[in-house]
Amino acid sequence: MPYTESTYGAAACRKAAAAAAKGNARILAIETSCDETACAIVQDGRHILANRIYSQIDLHRVYGGVVPEIASRAHVEKIDVVVDAAMKEAGCQRADLDAIAVTHGPGLVGALLVGISYAKALALGWAKPLIAVNHIQGHIAANYLTHPRLSPPFLCLVVSGGHSHLLYTESDGSNTLIGCTLDDAAGEAFDKAARQLSLPYPGGPALDKLADFGNDGAFRLPVPKVEGPFDFSFSGPKTAFVNLVHTFAQRGRMLPKGDLAASFRKSVVEQLVNRTMLAMQDLGELRLAIAGGVAANSLLRTRLAQACQEKGYQLFLPDLALCGDNAAMIASAAFWQLMRGELAGMDLNAHPALRIV
Ligand code: KG4
Ligand code: ZN
Repeated sequence: MPYTESTYGAAACRKAAAAAAKGNARILAIETSCDETACAIVQDGRHILANRIYSQIDLHRVYGGVVPEIASRAHVEKIDVVVDAAMKEAGCQRADLDAIAVTHGPGLVGALLVGISYAKALALGWAKPLIAVNHIQGHIAANYLTHPRLSPPFLCLVVSGGHSHLLYTESDGSNTLIGCTLDDAAGEAFDKAARQLSLPYPGGPALDKLADFGNDGAFRLPVPKVEGPFDFSFSGPKTAFVNLVHTFAQRGRMLPKGDLAASFRKSVVEQLVNRTMLAMQDLGELRLAIAGGVAANSLLRTRLAQACQEKGYQLFLPDLALCGDNAAMIASAAFWQLMRGELAGMDLNAHPALRIV
């Protein structure tokens, strides 16, 4: 059943639209696209009233990565708990909420379906309009929570486990693709490199920590040539890294793990920073935001801060706690969708490969 006012009750839809127009809509959002079961309540897209995350890392660590079936089951087991905890943390009753939002892609289909089914049930049972949010749009919106005065236009470097995109955000929810990876995403490359060093899952943060103790000039990894000036490529440096590790193993030599981690981190970050700065210059844009799990990378944050200071650009970094998957960012993105009247129906489905542009 596609969206109609009668799905949730015309009065509920009018109340939500009026609250959004006044800037004080309270949205409860659910995020279950991968391995975090999360629920948050956010007011006016900027103020977090509650932000609860149950991380499944401990369940997946033994397998070295996310096991989709285990992720779905854990979402089913925990979703009630995180929603209850968020309602208590915010001191909210159902009457205080204006809308229910949920991530509908991209992500693991089974994991997404748990959140979507739960959100539909809440929307129907509580007579609240339902809002379907693109997970990547959520990552971008994490910046609105950290920087209450930020509004488009700005360039956003989206770097997560599945994305390495340069998006020009002209207005809320309207993005133009400026560049993207031609092969692996930055987070994926970090995770694969970390596995070569036998670091625990999730590899990116572990490699980032280890790199602080290494010499980043110890190994030179190839700088890939890509045609588009603002595109990225990480599979060349990743393969070179794997070969390097194998060479050490074949010769029976101990791996200089710190040096390897530092050299790899530097090669990924240099590529991201150099091409982002080129895009800023080409667009004549003065404001840069970053988003996604890799936005937590310590070297990326400091190198972007230095580069932006040199050029006189304003840099917006999401709080570390909002870089990874969370539901507060979904509630924030949903607020602007509610303002535009973009509501979902009961026919909402999971879109594992949902695109941002
Ligand atoms: O956005 P996210 O939490 O999930 C996706 O939507 O993909 O991003 C997860 C990715 C993983 O590849 C993880 O290893 C990486 O972000 N990551 C990092 C760091 N923290 C998370 N990569 C490098 N350095 C970090 N500090
Ligand atoms: Zn994510």
